[in-house]
Amino acid sequence: MSKTILVTGGAGYIGSHTCIKLLDAGFQVLVLDNYSNSSPEATRRVQQIAGKTVAAIRGDINDAPLLDSIFSSNDIHAVIHFAGLKAVGESVAQPLRYYHNNVSGTVVLCDAMQRAGVKNLVFSSSATVYGDPASLPINEAFPTSATNPYGRSKLMIEELLGDLHVSDPDWNIALLRYFNPVGAHPSGLIGEDPADIPNNLMPYIAQVAVGRRERLNVFGGDYPTHDGTGVRDYIHVMDLADGHVRALEWLNSQAGIRAFNLGTGIGYSVLDMLKAFEKACGKTLDYVISDRRPGDVASCYADPQRAASELDWSARLGLEAMCADAWRWQERNPQGYK
Ligand code: NAD
Ligand code: WQD
Repeated sequence: MSKTILVTGGAGYIGSHTCIKLLDAGFQVLVLDNYSNSSPEATRRVQQIAGKTVAAIRGDINDAPLLDSIFSSNDIHAVIHFAGLKAVGESVAQPLRYYHNNVSGTVVLCDAMQRAGVKNLVFSSSATVYGDPASLPINEAFPTSATNPYGRSKLMIEELLGDLHVSDPDWNIALLRYFNPVGAHPSGLIGEDPADIPNNLMPYIAQVAVGRRERLNVFGGDYPTHDGTGVRDYIHVMDLADGHVRALEWLNSQAGIRAFNLGTGIGYSVLDMLKAFEKACGKTLDYVISDRRPGDVASCYADPQRAASELDWSARLGLEAMCADAWRWQERNPQGYK
């Protein structure tokens, strides 16, 4: 009997790609999603790609009775917890909504897991917990901080999960700190589908390329980087998805709670990304250098050594694949899943 993994937020961008890797690895997948930032179509396409069935439940992680019924009627081995709101600007405007959804939602979820005796958890954390790093590359021992409610919700969850583990060492928890996920499944069937104007760089560039936006605003051209634009550690979403499968294997080693950077260790600037995307789509893309975006740091990239040695995971796909796959998805689905 294959193991069942409950995937909260499994219809979202990273969750849908992870479902494919889970199915490929022989797990059964149960998705719980309220579709606040996604579409059930994503799960239909996951099934099409994998040639396997995925059970999907529309519902909220804050719904304790629903969680109890899910845990009592399924033999869940572990939970991969993607469900959360993720827009930094929105979190500044609506902090209570973010704390309710992300922090309270995680408390309700863990409470239900504890009642059900399911104590294996992979949590979607973020490189945002490093704030403005004092040096680079960033390793997991760096001090953490937050500059906005979204980032603070991730930090609070990491801390509450630490407390939970202290109270009951039977919990096994992987805190996966993602750097900048980009790209899409190579089929072009699933990808990132922002509901509004994209906040993130890659989907914005992709929408310029497909004609939905006129030009890219490059936020700042005077950073202390090789070309003056911000540098980030972009990681292909399929590599990231793979990291979750490795983390599940690691949970089985009864290793307690641990944070892992999931990044490539390589930093690219905004203009590097734009040029690589131009190559992938065969078009020249218009851009203008505008003011810095408040809260942005100049550079951020991972030291991915811990994940390499302890999870036996490292990123394989480079910038060319990230752009080619993002473009295939965008070109074939100019309006996303709509
Ligand atoms: P996403 O918005 O595409 O996916 C999140 C999913 O969770 C969506 O399908 C949404 O409908 C669902 N959801 C939200 N609140 C829910 C709730 N209360 N109950 C049930 N479902 C709910 O985002 P993503 O990019 O796939 O991110 C997944 C996770 O990874 C998030 O927790 C995010 O904070 C984290 N993360 C994302 C990035 C990134 O750049 N994409 C970086 C670091 C961390
Ligand atoms: C990347 C670079 C921008 C858009 C955010 C969250 C972080 C994490 C990942 C969830 C920066 C520049 C962007 C645009 C631009 N999410 N940019 N024009 O800011 O590294 O991280 O997403 O956890 O918490 O903060 O990613 O894609 O927004 O920006 O010039 O239209 O692109 O200034 O240098 P970021 P991003």
